[in-house]
Amino acid sequence: MAERETWTTRVGFIFAAVGSAVGLGNIWSFPFQTGSNGGAAFLVVYLAIVFLFGFPAMLMEFVIGRRSKQNPISAFRELGFGNWSFAGALGVIGSVVTLAFYSVIGGWVLSYIAGSATGAYFGEAGTFFESVSAGPLAVGTHAVFMAVTVAIVAFGVQSGIERATKVMIPAILVLLLGLAVWGFTLDGAAAGYEYYLSPDFQYLSENIATIVPSAVGQAFFTLSLGFSVMIAYASYLGRDDSLPADGGAIVVINTLVALLAGFVVFPVLFAIGVEPGSGGVGTAFVSLAGAFGQLPGGALLGAAFFFVLLLAALSSAISLLETPTSYVVDNYDYSRRTVATGLGAAIFALGVPTALDTGTLGWYNDVVFSFLLPFVVLLFALFVGWVAFDSASEELGMGTSLGGGFVTLWLWWVRVVIPVGIGLTLVLGIQDLLIKAQILESAVILA
Ligand code: PFF
Repeated sequence: MAERETWTTRVGFIFAAVGSAVGLGNIWSFPFQTGSNGGAAFLVVYLAIVFLFGFPAMLMEFVIGRRSKQNPISAFRELGFGNWSFAGALGVIGSVVTLAFYSVIGGWVLSYIAGSATGAYFGEAGTFFESVSAGPLAVGTHAVFMAVTVAIVAFGVQSGIERATKVMIPAILVLLLGLAVWGFTLDGAAAGYEYYLSPDFQYLSENIATIVPSAVGQAFFTLSLGFSVMIAYASYLGRDDSLPADGGAIVVINTLVALLAGFVVFPVLFAIGVEPGSGGVGTAFVSLAGAFGQLPGGALLGAAFFFVLLLAALSSAISLLETPTSYVVDNYDYSRRTVATGLGAAIFALGVPTALDTGTLGWYNDVVFSFLLPFVVLLFALFVGWVAFDSASEELGMGTSLGGGFVTLWLWWVRVVIPVGIGLTLVLGIQDLLIKAQILESAVILA
C-alpha cells in the first residue's frame, strides 16, 4: 500500500477545507434559504448557529481525523472504539448520497453557463430550467461534472485537491466580489440590502420554529459537517497546526462567501421585482436566470455568476468523493485512480434517477438534510464528548496556545449543548420527512 499523503502546507489544508465548505450551499442555497425565511431574520439566526454550533462541531471532526490519521471509518478503530465505526460510515454514506445529486445540480450549472453565453434562457427561464434539469441532457451534464470530479481526486491530495482548490478559491472570491460591486450599481440594490440586512424581529419570533431547523441544516451543510469529510481532510494534517485557528479561518471565509453571494443575489432579484421568497430546488435557478436575462450585460454577468457556482460546486464535490475514496485506498490494495473512477461511476449511477426527476432529487436532499446530517453530527458529538473525550481533548490542545480553559469549555459544549440542540433539530427533521411522506398528517411531535 502506498504511503499516506499529507497536505504540503497548512494553507493547503485550509484551502482544501474551504473548498469543501464553499459550494452550492453558499452561493445558491444560502441566498434562497434566506429569501424563503424572511431575509435578515434568518440571517441573524443562521450566523449565531454557524459560530455557536458549527465551529465547535467542526473541531469534533478535526480531532477525530488528526488523532487517528485514518479515513473516517477506520478512524474509530484506530482510536480504540471500533464499534463506533458505523458513525463514520454513516457520514460516508451521506457523502455518497449527497454527491449523487450534488453532481446533477453541478450539471445544471454547466447548462446555465452555456445558456448565459448563448442567451438560451433569456425570456424563457422556466422552460429552460425544465429542459436542462431532468432528462437526457441532465444525465449527460451530470456525467461530465462527475468525470471532472473523478479526475481531480484521482490525482491525489497534493497534486489534485490541494492544487485545484488553491486556484479555485481565490477565483471564486474575486469573481463574487466583482459581481457584488455590480449588484451595488443596480436599481434594486437599496431594497435588496434592506431586506437582507435589516431584521424583522416580529417575523422572527412568529416563525422561529421553521427558521431554526432550516438554519441548522444550512449551517452544517455549508460547513461540510456530518459527512465525515472534515475527518478525512484533517487526517492528512500535521500536529503543529492549531485546530481552532484553522477551523476559525475556515468558518469565517465560508461565511464571508455566503454573505457575499447575498450581496449579489438580492440586488439582482429586487432589480427586476422577483419575490425573494420563491425558494426551492428549481425556482432559485429560474428566478436568478430570469433576472440575468432582463438586465443589461446579463449574458456576461450571468455566465460569470454560474461559472463561480461551478467552481464552488466542483471543489465541494471533490471532498465528497475523497471521503469514500480514502477509505478504500487505506484498506485495499487498489490504486487511487482505480478507486476514484470506480466510485465515481457507481455514484454517477446512483444519481441518474435524480437527473431524470427533480422530485427524486428533492427526496435525496431531504433525507440528507433532515435525517442523515443531524444524526451523524449527534453521533460524533456523543463519541467525542462522552467516549473518546480524553484523546479528543488532548488532541485539540496540541498546536494551539489557547490553553486548557478553551478545551474544557469546548468539551462541555460538545457534551451537552450540541447534543441537545441537534437532538431537537433531528426530531423536527424526522417529523418533517414523515409529513412529506404522508405518514404523518401534520406536525404532532413538536409544533
Ligand atoms: N459545503 C458544501 C456546500 O455548501 O455546497 C456541500 C458539502 C460538501 C456538504 C461536502 C458536505 C460535504 F461533505
